[in-house]
Amino acid sequence: MRTLKKILLLLLLLLIVLVGGFLALSHQPAIGAGNPPAAASFSPQQIEKGRLLAAMGDCAVCHTAPGGQTNAGGLPIASPFGTIYSTNITPDVDTGIGRWTYEAFARAMRHGVDREGKYLYPAFPYTAFTHVKDEDLQALYAFLMSEPAVKFDPPETSLKFPFNLRPGLAAWNWLFLKRGPLPDDSSMPPEWNRGAYLAEGLGHCSACHTPRNQFGAEKTGEHHFAGTTLDGWSVPALTSATPAPLPWTADDLYQYFKFGFSPRHGSAAGPMAPVIHGLSQQSDADLKALASYVMSYKKDTADPGDAQAFVASKFEKSKFALDHEGYRLFEGACASCHSDASDIKDSLFGVRPQWVLSTKVYADSPNNAALVVLNGIQSAPTPQTGTMPAFRHNLSDAQIATLLNTMREQAGLKPWNNLPDQVAKLRKDTQPGPTVRAH
Ligand code: HEC
Ligand code: HEC
Ligand code: HEC
Repeated sequence: MRTLKKILLLLLLLLIVLVGGFLALSHQPAIGAGNPPAAASFSPQQIEKGRLLAAMGDCAVCHTAPGGQTNAGGLPIASPFGTIYSTNITPDVDTGIGRWTYEAFARAMRHGVDREGKYLYPAFPYTAFTHVKDEDLQALYAFLMSEPAVKFDPPETSLKFPFNLRPGLAAWNWLFLKRGPLPDDSSMPPEWNRGAYLAEGLGHCSACHTPRNQFGAEKTGEHHFAGTTLDGWSVPALTSATPAPLPWTADDLYQYFKFGFSPRHGSAAGPMAPVIHGLSQQSDADLKALASYVMSYKKDTADPGDAQAFVASKFEKSKFALDHEGYRLFEGACASCHSDASDIKDSLFGVRPQWVLSTKVYADSPNNAALVVLNGIQSAPTPQTGTMPAFRHNLSDAQIATLLNTMREQAGLKPWNNLPDQVAKLRKDTQPGPTVRAH
């Protein structure tokens, strides 16, 4: 008995030493409060550069609550561990980052630690932002500090035990955070390296396009860009594993990034729309670099195929009698904008997308197609793409299911299983709303 007690006591001591050691190691000092730098201390060029970088990094997408002021925080972000609220990153001295020196800002972006030494949750994509170079972080800081200060206290994030113990993130970072700028790959051309820098850094493409492990960290290796799900949306793989019916080319990607629409693939909706809003403002050279990097994840041997011939083959013969219910629904509700016209140039550059080329129709999951029909596309990612009305009040779950499976059949695909139930679930879980907030 006594020996058991001794062993337990020893174990307890060991635990205290380990926890104490861990806390000591994970301790991050507070960085002294500064006064907000005067806007005049930054050049207009640096501020403009920072504005573009902020658009690339989607800062305002996450740091703006619905109906709230730009960058004042408060957007609820769902995670498997609970709801995390974004913070106020305007230069307000009380509620924002007005008292943050550049050093404190750079530590947050690179190490995921706030000015006071508190660990930040990786819902903030610092795992990608850590790769951003000093000169770019400086421009971002200049831009954020020159924006209007907004006094607003966003709701506190309070996750359940043990996820509320922020020092635990030190262990998470030790396991999953690869700190600092990525080395250039000298075997690849400069354009590819620039694309890698944009995609893996501020663009944080993998935050959405890469599946995560049970700790909420992105899986690596062959899983990088392998596609996953997000807020009910299925996020397609950026590799050749995309369900897109025609292989992507670098030119297709460039158009998709620039306009939110590729005539050979269709349009960007859901969580990708605000990403496009940021990308569309970047230089052509950077968008081409991004395309060249993403292309390196695809099999370059794939024949791009002829979109025109592809569409013609799908509509060669109408598969449905005029009184077929799905056909009637399509003609009544959709054909005014989505004609079967076999000339894809009729698709008026995004405003009337040719649905038979859309990745959404070919995906294993019906979610993206169903979400677009239920909630419409309220606000286009760029002025070149149009908007689509929401049909949730006009069509029943069964009608939407019949309609979508009719489109699947016309495209030569198997119908989606249990579709009415899935549409009902999506109807309950989502609501129509603007996809893009003004930056
Ligand atoms: C995917 C959503 C998302 C994006 C994109 C994002 N952030 Fe955040 N950010 C967050 C969340 C959530 C937090 C709060 C994390 C926490 O409370 O642990 C945060 C925290 C921060 C903080 C710490 C602020 C504080 O008061 O503690 C800074 C600084 C910051 N973000 C800057 C940026 C910048 C600059 C960008 C754009 C380059 C950006 N963020 C893009 C979600 C995001
Ligand atoms: C906030 C999450 C999010 C981020 C960040 C994001 N994406 Fe996406 N992406 C999506 C979703 C969701 C879709 C599906 C959109 C749809 O169906 O309209 C998508 C679609 C795409 C597609 C079309 C794929 C296909 O085969 O049809 C490409 C290409 C793409 N994203 C590239 C990128 C790149 C490059 C980046 C980084 C610069 C990026 N994405 C960042 C969520 C995201
Ligand atoms: C008033 C015109 C209009 C009507 C009516 C309309 N749509 Fe759309 N639809 C659009 C536009 C514009 C887009 C692309 C919007 C964007 O991405 O900015 C779109 C996008 C889509 C997409 C995604 C295409 C892609 O490229 O990925 C699908 C699927 C779709 N619509 C299906 C339907 C169905 C089914 C109906 C009938 C219930 C319908 N639409 C009715 C205008 C319309």
